Amino acid sequence: MRIDDPGRSWPLLTLDRAALEHNVATVATTVAAAGAELAPHVKTHMSRELWTRQLDAGAWGATVATPAQLHAALEWGNVRRAFLANELVDPRDLVWLRGALDRDDADEVWVYADSERGLELLAAAFADAARPERLGVLVELGLPGGRTGLRTVPDVVALARSVVGRGLRLVGVAGYEGPVATGTSAAELDAVARWCAALREAGAAVADLVDGPVVLSAGGSAFADVVLRELAAAAGARVVLRSGAYITSDHGHYRRSDPWARLGADRLRPAITVWASVLSAPELGLAICGLGRRDVSFDIDLPFPLVERTVDDAGRLGSARDLAGATVTALNDQHAYVALTGDRELRPGDVVGFGVSHPCTTLDKHRTGLITDGDDVVEQVTFQF
Ligand SMILES: Cc1ncc(COP(=O)(O)O)c(C=O)c1O
Repeated sequence: MRIDDPGRSWPLLTLDRAALEHNVATVATTVAAAGAELAPHVKTHMSRELWTRQLDAGAWGATVATPAQLHAALEWGNVRRAFLANELVDPRDLVWLRGALDRDDADEVWVYADSERGLELLAAAFADAARPERLGVLVELGLPGGRTGLRTVPDVVALARSVVGRGLRLVGVAGYEGPVATGTSAAELDAVARWCAALREAGAAVADLVDGPVVLSAGGSAFADVVLRELAAAAGARVVLRSGAYITSDHGHYRRSDPWARLGADRLRPAITVWASVLSAPELGLAICGLGRRDVSFDIDLPFPLVERTVDDAGRLGSARDLAGATVTALNDQHAYVALTGDRELRPGDVVGFGVSHPCTTLDKHRTGLITDGDDVVEQVTFQF
């Protein structure tokens, strides 16, 4: 099977097999070498096939962001430990989760809490649970002006006491350093380190309330080096990283911030290409491709034209030419404006491969993707957003 087989059409999303395997192995090895555990954030892809690769590489469990994602992940049949890295406050979801844990759909599910009301809802739903110990609670530390999470360490400690006081199982403390910084300047990495130090301090302050080692959890894919370094310094704690975007990395945001390279590991490789036809070449220096906001992320950067492929009369892809210097200047729903340099032209019917910036907001626009070796299809994967 090839990506240009009859029956398929452009735009099409492919995932380079070698890049995926490299990223999964590099991160699994680096996290284990730091003495930490990995609960990959599967909201990035919501694909059982991709999660299975992460599980096979040693993932502790799967992280999700919403009750619907938790539902879907537990239905995959191979997620025994899940981490909803968010507040769970809808009583309907709580009743469902209690039932799922009582039915043995999972061994353990962890959730965040950042309010007394949230704890009240959790405690009420789990009051008559058959397996209440299967629910683990992590008190969330945020940052002033940030997203969810308590703003100060003393507030985290007070809520952790309340978790125990209400008969719930306290697992540890958690948060997300992503909003602390956008870039990787020394000052920004220092700010991330300071936030991690506060999480470490909160963990130490609640350690006596936890049965077993206290869990400290943070870590997306942009500052994992700082998180691993700062949290690993906490004696007697379990560090659980939740990186998700690392699995495909990208040609923009995550390429710029690659924390694994800062740790001395091989750079991650961008795995995603979205392929689209050149629909029109209406002016010198401009090509319009059939790729829009419904096909690629546009929240951090516009997509990057990578290569141009000729197409024969039967629709088969031919040779590839580098498109260095070409840029996307705008996106409509289904069209991309590609600016070309010099006297470069693109021919209608030919196909352009685009790199992206931000995997999560690209993959969620597709129902399926093809894992490829060159133009050969290795496996079709399904995204369950
Ligand atoms: C709470 C939380 N944890 C982990 C992650 C994973 O971060 P990344 O997508 O950079 O891997 C996110 C991403 O938004 C998040 O919100």
